Amino acid sequence: MAFPLIDPERLMDRHAAMAAVGATGRGGVDRQALSAEDIAARALLIGWAQARGFACSADTVGNLFVRRAGRDPAAAAVLTGSHLDSQPTGGNYDGVFGVLAGLELMETLEDRGIATRRPVELVSWTNEEGARFQPATMGSAVFAGAMPLAEALRAVDRDGIALADALEAMWAALPDLVRHCPVAAIHAYVEAHIEQGPVLEQAEAVIGVVTGIQGLRALAVETFGAEGHAGTVPMAGRRDAFVAAVDLVAAIREACRDPEDVLRMTIGQFRVVPGSPNTIPAHVRFTVDLRHPDDGRLAATGDRILEACRRYRGPCRVEARELLFSHPVDFDAAIRERIARHAEARGYRHRALRSGATHDAKFMAGLCPTGMIFVPCRGGLSHSEAEEASAAHLAAGAQVLSDTVIELAGHD
Ligand code: GLV
Ligand code: MN
Ligand code: MN
Repeated sequence: MAFPLIDPERLMDRHAAMAAVGATGRGGVDRQALSAEDIAARALLIGWAQARGFACSADTVGNLFVRRAGRDPAAAAVLTGSHLDSQPTGGNYDGVFGVLAGLELMETLEDRGIATRRPVELVSWTNEEGARFQPATMGSAVFAGAMPLAEALRAVDRDGIALADALEAMWAALPDLVRHCPVAAIHAYVEAHIEQGPVLEQAEAVIGVVTGIQGLRALAVETFGAEGHAGTVPMAGRRDAFVAAVDLVAAIREACRDPEDVLRMTIGQFRVVPGSPNTIPAHVRFTVDLRHPDDGRLAATGDRILEACRRYRGPCRVEARELLFSHPVDFDAAIRERIARHAEARGYRHRALRSGATHDAKFMAGLCPTGMIFVPCRGGLSHSEAEEASAAHLAAGAQVLSDTVIELAGHD
């Protein structure tokens, strides 16, 4: 039997409906993890899934599962998915595409009355972005046993709301959701995503066969000083937490010098307390996001930063700690071969590439054969409200995902 064609129109309609949830009015969305907007997006997905008779449930960290049963109840499931949460100024495709492409293939199976041997299960991971709660890819880290549940539940957002409390709000808003994780065993995990970089567009390729994900080391640095009046405290006697932080940022930039321009370093969150123009800052907290494909280089750079923080000899107290060290991963060769073969069979130009962005697939790679399918995005732009992907490319990615997942699930 030939692999069924997905419905590209339904896929785009679903994207349009999701784009309305948390829409900022500037073309993007603000749907940070477990916010009212993220919960509304989950409710929308659950409504679509239940209308097709799929079972919906969530696990202890809120990862949402949608299951289509297979012929063999004992068989391990094929898992696909991504995330519905967004950056504060997020685009309409980062994460959403992988979730809706997974739903699309399940609906296609339903439309055609195709039974697979294995169950096919869709997952929308909790807090992939790490914008509201840190670190990123938290839901999959807990799922894979790489982070203790208690540690995730303790994470707090900038208003002091704990993830545990945000989860309670989700359960209250979605009372029909079954509280357990139905995935007993996983045969394979395949995730579709926009590339978030320029490689496919420049190569004029439609499908990216992802070879793996570069490493990510995330740190939090805090400086503690003393409040005082901006107009009276002599400069010489101040313990200004902002000045200390700026000195550390200079040292961090020095530690991150890379003539090859492979290392990526971002200080994306910088909080000054109390944040008043005429009070000397008493506390600063900032994050450092480091990426490198080489584990050793990543480790050494992070260590140099931690050492620079330890060496600080100014008037403030400095604390630095690691939030996440996710090592570079390589995806399963057989899954990559399947993706490339299905892209070829559909006549889509494809190429292999490594992911610069991080994804929940990196934790799944430790549990089961795992792979990712990329499609181009305009100008390689992502984590931006201007993020764009063409309907033709999204349909192609969803089709290759569908073919790959259905083959893995086994059909007659
Ligand atoms: C995912 O959003 C990442 O930070 O790479
Ligand atoms: Mn993403
Ligand atoms: Mn993202």
